[in-house]
Amino acid sequence: MSQPERSTPAGPASGLDRREFCACALALAAAAAVVSCGGGGGGSSTPAPPPPPPPPSPVTTSETKASMMGQPAGTVRDYTTTASGSCPLVLGAAQGYYLVRDSAGIYAFNASCLHQGGRLNTTQTGFGCPCHGSQYDLNGTVTLGPAPVGAILQHYQVSESTPGGVLVIDPSKPVSATTRLT
Ligand code: FES
Repeated sequence: MSQPERSTPAGPASGLDRREFCACALALAAAAAVVSCGGGGGGSSTPAPPPPPPPPSPVTTSETKASMMGQPAGTVRDYTTTASGSCPLVLGAAQGYYLVRDSAGIYAFNASCLHQGGRLNTTQTGFGCPCHGSQYDLNGTVTLGPAPVGAILQHYQVSESTPGGVLVIDPSKPVSATTRLT
């Protein structure tokens, strides 16, 4: 039984075959690169956009509806995730949340300043940003710039984890600034 030839001595004919093979392989590789980069529709080399970030996770608080409603209007609970004075200069930076009780009920909003993302602190009248001095009222409305005066921090759904259970802030569920848990 004869075996297939596994190697061929170098020679003019076999050398020509290898050159042709290499040329074909290079052409195929180039074509594959164009296809993988989204080519064929004009040859654009623009990289694909990054995938969207995962949705933010709910934050479980240590408060119940009863415990918050038992507090006076103006009570604020801190669920921020960064240190006071954090000034990342990235609008929308993740700074955590504030849980608030006012005369109408319970609500929560983003603790990231609408100017350049600084981490808001509590003040006598609401909230303030240590980065450039913006001020907010208790509902998260800008009262003093450089953040845009009148703009409102994003509020998020607050709900009970179970009936009578602890409250959960869900950043994947934005709500209007007038929404209250009562
Ligand atoms: S980042 Fe808050 S005032 Fe500039």
